[in-house]
Amino acid sequence: PRSPLVDPFHRAITYLRVSVTDRCDFRCLYCMAENMTFLPKREILTLEELDRVCSAFVERGVRKLRITGGEPLVRKNIMTLFRLLSRHLDTGALDELTLTTNGSQLARFAGELYDCGVRRVNVSLDTRDPDMFRTITRWGDIAKVMEGIRAARDAGLKIKINTVALKGVNEDEIEDMMVWCHDNGMDLTLIETMPLGEIDGDRTEQYLPLSMVRARLKERWTLEDIPYKTGGPARYVQVAETGGRLGFITPLTHNFCESCNRVRLTCTGTLFMCLGQEDAADLRAPLRASESNGPLHDAIEEAIARKPKGHDFIIDRRHNRPSLSRHMSVTGG
Ligand code: GTP
Ligand code: 5AD
Ligand code: SF4
Repeated sequence: PRSPLVDPFHRAITYLRVSVTDRCDFRCLYCMAENMTFLPKREILTLEELDRVCSAFVERGVRKLRITGGEPLVRKNIMTLFRLLSRHLDTGALDELTLTTNGSQLARFAGELYDCGVRRVNVSLDTRDPDMFRTITRWGDIAKVMEGIRAARDAGLKIKINTVALKGVNEDEIEDMMVWCHDNGMDLTLIETMPLGEIDGDRTEQYLPLSMVRARLKERWTLEDIPYKTGGPARYVQVAETGGRLGFITPLTHNFCESCNRVRLTCTGTLFMCLGQEDAADLRAPLRASESNGPLHDAIEEAIARKPKGHDFIIDRRHNRPSLSRHMSVTGG
């Protein structure tokens, strides 16, 4: 058997994020331009191929798989992939199989996801205001997302809401979002916007440092540091007044690369070793080169040996360009 994956900085790779499509039914203004060119279908790995790559990573010590996009639930027959991957939960090789979704199709899939062993979902929701929701997503219907969240809860899934903090857009709503999440038994994580890909707006205007949000929240709420860990990048506090958990994902103000445990696979079989760097490895060619997984494992090992120390994102006016031309939707974060 092949050995577990450890990078040059002694970080064990135990978390694989898998983008199953670059497409999305929304166009969030900090994430995509309104007019996007998506990949032609022929470039994209089949669900069976995605399963093969994921399973190779599970063999090498990955304990957590997160399916992302774009929007993962717009990929045709996506439940087939969840069904295939769920066998690793049954054998105990995998601790968690989960997804990050915009929630628009969650009502349709919640029950099946639970049947495939999914126990927790992360839903991206930046506002609870229907008009603001339409502004941010450009045409999304918040009622569908709310229906999806209810369906997920009814199906027995735990829910974490992800909110990107946007200056002048949703910053005045953050407390309301927190109270609503905690009243409904959901965790909330706030995220700093990252300079990935060209968008129509100006990121320097949207960027809201979470250090500021945290300071503002502390004037009204008691935030207690807690050791809660999910394997993701968020640092959590417990809010004494609500009893709920609030996470901060702060790539800009408080980098977390030192404890990075993850790599991300795109729907074309490209492996990105860091969200914030260009370097990537093609796994599709070695995957297709042989029915045995030998070449694939070799390519994975070579890729992990090049995993960089961290990102070097910056957002400021002198640097008003994306750090990387690739959009978040290529890797799903
Ligand atoms: P949990 O399992 O609940 O901890 O989820 P998670 O935070 O690992 O995943 P999720 O998809 O909810 O990610 C939330 C945000 O964190 C997304 O905007 C991601 O882009 C961002 N994120 C995840 N991993 C990384 C990373 O390695 N670096 C950076 N800079 N951001 C990341
Ligand atoms: N910066 C930070 N978060 C982003 N997301 C999409 N684009 C960006 C960006 N540029 C978030 C989505 C979702 C998650 C997968 O990534 O809102 O919560
Ligand atoms: Fe789609 Fe998520 Fe990007 Fe919004 S943030 S456009 S929902 S991939």
